[in-house]
Amino acid sequence: MASLNSKSRLATQLEDAVSDTTVDAEHAAAPRLPEGPILDPQTLPTEVPDDASPPMELPRVLAIANQKGGVGKTTTAVNLGAALAEADFRTLVVDLDPQGNATTGLGLNPRDVNGSIYDVILNNRALEDCVEPTSLKNLFVAPATIDLAGAEIELVPQMSRELRLKRAIDSVREQYDVDCPPSLGLLTVNGLAAADDVIVPIQCEYYALEGLGQLLRNVGLVQSNLNRALEVRGIVLTMYDGRTKLADQVEAEVREYFGSKVYRTVVPRTVRLSEAPSFGQPIIVFDSASRGARAYRELAKEVSRGATRRAG
Ligand SMILES: Nc1ncnc2c1ncn2[C@@H]1O[C@H](COP(=O)(O)OP(=O)(O)O)[C@@H](O)[C@H]1O
Ligand SMILES: [Mg+2]
Repeated sequence: MASLNSKSRLATQLEDAVSDTTVDAEHAAAPRLPEGPILDPQTLPTEVPDDASPPMELPRVLAIANQKGGVGKTTTAVNLGAALAEADFRTLVVDLDPQGNATTGLGLNPRDVNGSIYDVILNNRALEDCVEPTSLKNLFVAPATIDLAGAEIELVPQMSRELRLKRAIDSVREQYDVDCPPSLGLLTVNGLAAADDVIVPIQCEYYALEGLGQLLRNVGLVQSNLNRALEVRGIVLTMYDGRTKLADQVEAEVREYFGSKVYRTVVPRTVRLSEAPSFGQPIIVFDSASRGARAYRELAKEVSRGATRRAG
């Protein structure tokens, strides 16, 4: 291979990743029960991340990322963020998805906000200017509005386009929880460049690991080009349906492959978790005793293992 410089290699990877987002729908249309292992060895990442992350040091920026859509990134960003806040960690959810689902899921109307993450990334607005409180004491959100959809393109000619979010966050570091959009564009790169750790939600479904190899390669690219400290901290299994054999098989195989990187907590598939966002509430507020709420509280304990509390 020709010796490309790091920037153009990254750009090439980005293009590949972005043009790779139509796969979901096709596969979703034709689920067949496969013979043998569910996880196709061909699609498995060749590099498994190192085992067991060390105890969490604060402040911490966690990117919730997976290039697949609909795997539970937003649900995890909102509900893990809320559960961390309930456990007395001052937490900011940064909504990096133009769809703004984390914003509305936390009870904000994007039309009513003072500023948004778009202003931060494109207009150098201070992050704290757009931070809004939520119904939970220690939980804040940096909202996304629809104009963020243009950011992928508007960012292209900008200086330090990959590091806009990192700069904004570095100026006011606390505990952050970044909800990345699906697909790997400049917004996700901004999320990964700003993060200390990546948490990858994986849906207990067919093709669970599809795109994961690419995600890990891209984490590696961001690591070598933009953010040396970036690490995959953990994998969280989501939408687990205990009634299906498939869910068990996916869980067993993901655990076998990724070992202690996989959190013990498995998020169940529950209607309550899918209902909560339309009430603008995280699950621990919407239905505090539900299975989903218990799962995200447990996950918050695992994620924050060893961290000192910073009540605010
Ligand atoms: N554990 C769960 N149980 C039931 N529904 C879920 C669960 N997690 C996510 N969902 C629903 O699945 C859809 C996709 O989840 P979402 O978090 O938006 O994924 P992503 O952000 O990765 O695209 C949403 O409608 C969400 O409400
Ligand atoms: Mg989402």
